[in-house]
Amino acid sequence: MIQQAAVIGAGVMGHGIAQLYAQAGIPVFLYDLEENYLEKARKAIKANLILQVQRGVLTEVESERAVACITYTTDLEEAVRTADFVTEAIPEVIEWKWELYEKLESCMKPTAVIASNTSTIPVSRLAEKMSTPERMMITHFFNPAQLVPLVEVVRHERTEEKIVQTTMEVMRMIGKSPVLLKKEVPGFIANRLQAAVVREALHLLEEGVAEAKDIDLAVTEGPGFRWAFIGPIETADFGGLDTWKRVVDNLAPELSQSRQAPEFLNTLVDAGHLGAKSGQGIYEYEEISVSEKIKERDDKFIELLKVKQR
Ligand SMILES: NC(=O)c1ccc[n+]([C@@H]2O[C@H](COP(=O)([O-])OP(=O)(O)OC[C@H]3O[C@@H](n4cnc5c(N)ncnc54)[C@H](O)[C@@H]3O)[C@@H](O)[C@H]2O)c1
Repeated sequence: MIQQAAVIGAGVMGHGIAQLYAQAGIPVFLYDLEENYLEKARKAIKANLILQVQRGVLTEVESERAVACITYTTDLEEAVRTADFVTEAIPEVIEWKWELYEKLESCMKPTAVIASNTSTIPVSRLAEKMSTPERMMITHFFNPAQLVPLVEVVRHERTEEKIVQTTMEVMRMIGKSPVLLKKEVPGFIANRLQAAVVREALHLLEEGVAEAKDIDLAVTEGPGFRWAFIGPIETADFGGLDTWKRVVDNLAPELSQSRQAPEFLNTLVDAGHLGAKSGQGIYEYEEISVSEKIKERDDKFIELLKVKQR
């Protein structure tokens, strides 16, 4: 199994992914273009670990061991030369990713895996210009990567079977629940499902069916409560497929079929009302710093993780 990992890009996703390797006891290089990005990542990882210790899901010793497993570097060759598994988490610009893969292929071990965290670019497109496309994968983590269990794993036609198996094993080693797609589709699985729910929620709001808080409550206290443990397909099985056949037949024509965001969302975005980060979105937010909001969110996710792990 792998002895050394590397994560390229220490931003929102990369720092959390590097933390996962470190918590699994796997030495990891975390690379970014400049020292100040690495410093931000170092602080974020420290805060994540402190929170996990405070909430009793990690011991002080495990936290210290994780910190010791991470080497921060702005030297790309140093980061990847000895790595067996390299995660790419740089911005979603295909030209930047292609340029990076060319560099990686020139200095990585020939057998090492390259796994992109892309949310939207097909893996076959990412591998298009590579001289070793057979080692290219997608491992799509969810924010915050160090807490959300799911990783969607996507291969392309030319990815070697052995690389796919190694990727699945590595994801399990770092404590994740990997799901392997049988074919490439835009948005993979989870973002397609989320987008379908969000489109309908915005449609209900636009139609004046209920207040935003009540639409959200209808999810968190209803389907969302179940979904942490029972997915939509099992829900249909439990409910009875005859019943769900009628539900789909009767409701499908009534659901939003919109191919774009509703007009009111465009108006909000144009006015700079971008949600929690700008203080106003569909809801209004009190003056509370972004880092406090993130801590509050992570606190709840840790509690859910504890329940799921029991
Ligand atoms: N943010 C999310 O919620 C989320 C969720 C799932 C997947 N993703 C995907 O993960 C990837 C990274 O997203 P993010 O939100 O972490 O981005 P980010 O902008 O927070 O971080 C990207 C980091 O990569 C660095 N970088 C830029 N160019 C680079 C290069 N050529 N080489 C090395 N580092 C470089 C930047 O300095 C930055 O620190 C994207 O493909 C994105 O689509 C993001």
